[in-house]
Amino acid sequence: MTVGGRDLFRARIGEAIGVSPSRVSLFAKGRVALYAILKALDIGPGDEVILPAFTCVAVPNAILYSGARPIYVDIDPLTYTIDTAAAEAAITPRTRAILAQNTFGLSSDLDALGAIAARTDVQIIDDCTHGLGGQYHGRPNGSIAPASFFSTQWSKTISTGLGGFAIARDDALAVRLRELEETAAEPTTMSVALLRVLLFGLEHGGHGVVFRNGRALYRRLSRIGVVPSSSSRDELEGVTMPKGFMARLSPSQARSGVARIGHLAGQVRRRRAIAERYSGWLSGHGLTAAAEPAGFVHAYLRYPLRVSDRPDFVSAAGRAGVDLGDWFVSPIHPVVGDFERWQYHPGSAPIADRTCLEIVNLPTNPSMSDRDVERVIAFLGQQVASIQ
Ligand SMILES: Cc1ncc(COP(=O)(O)O)c(C=O)c1O
Repeated sequence: MTVGGRDLFRARIGEAIGVSPSRVSLFAKGRVALYAILKALDIGPGDEVILPAFTCVAVPNAILYSGARPIYVDIDPLTYTIDTAAAEAAITPRTRAILAQNTFGLSSDLDALGAIAARTDVQIIDDCTHGLGGQYHGRPNGSIAPASFFSTQWSKTISTGLGGFAIARDDALAVRLRELEETAAEPTTMSVALLRVLLFGLEHGGHGVVFRNGRALYRRLSRIGVVPSSSSRDELEGVTMPKGFMARLSPSQARSGVARIGHLAGQVRRRRAIAERYSGWLSGHGLTAAAEPAGFVHAYLRYPLRVSDRPDFVSAAGRAGVDLGDWFVSPIHPVVGDFERWQYHPGSAPIADRTCLEIVNLPTNPSMSDRDVERVIAFLGQQVASIQ
């Protein structure tokens, strides 16, 4: 049975990314879309999946749920995306896929990865959870690799509260993914109702103190399992698939996605204008601006900045009312210990390990006014000595 809300969202996503709606499948979260892609590609026990050691724990979790082994490789120190040479060097006869990742909204080098895929029998899966609205050499993120996935969780470029979708470039994979969507569980009525409240809060809470307090309360409630959350305690503490994981997006979430996706282009433009202001200021002070290589259009979901004393910088930002992000404090964010459980070996990706100690994210929320942006710039001015 098809449901209007979902099919309309599929159509709008297809228009935004430049793919047929039949290639789009909708899931409860981005990580569920990744898991579905792994299943659809028959990736499982005995297989290896290469991924950047600068990601969200949800990514290795989905790989581990499939039965495959995550193989972490280092990142490029300027773009924070996967080091393509390191990815190629990590290929073994068991490798089935390389995860490209749009870190902070910037695509990985898909030409280099595509060339590796062409030389080997490895699939590229593009993690576009940060990159909806960005582009790679004139093509929308998510339209290039054989399989891509996105997140519409509340912190992403468009939100359905929680949510995600997968894009397949060929018909056979698309059909398989749609089957997985059709057979996935419907989200519970209670979780759909709570997500509606969350979305309302997001839309009407602005981005100042009310928003920050509301978000802190939501995080506290989600940790104790009272509201539906991105990551349940199970997902942060272990590698066993939580109950109810394999779920689809509800029709009402899809309807809210339809209402929001029309604003995507304008919002990405605003994010880019904010980022340009930060970059101009940083370059003007002889500091390193975020990288945007020629031919890439960064979606600037977050603006990365490296600082020498992060705890001090973060406390000062709190006092100044600057809403900093913390992606990624760990190669498998937000897990900061017990890396063996996720098969990550500290020291094996030294650039990522170091980046995780130094990085903060400046806000690029499109609802920020010019005055809000100038407040961030004034804060950077006060902290100039600790910016790297
Ligand atoms: C790089 C990356 N991949 C995947 C995900 C998972 O997305 P979702 O929370 O929709 O499952 C996240 C979450 O923020 C992420 O940062």
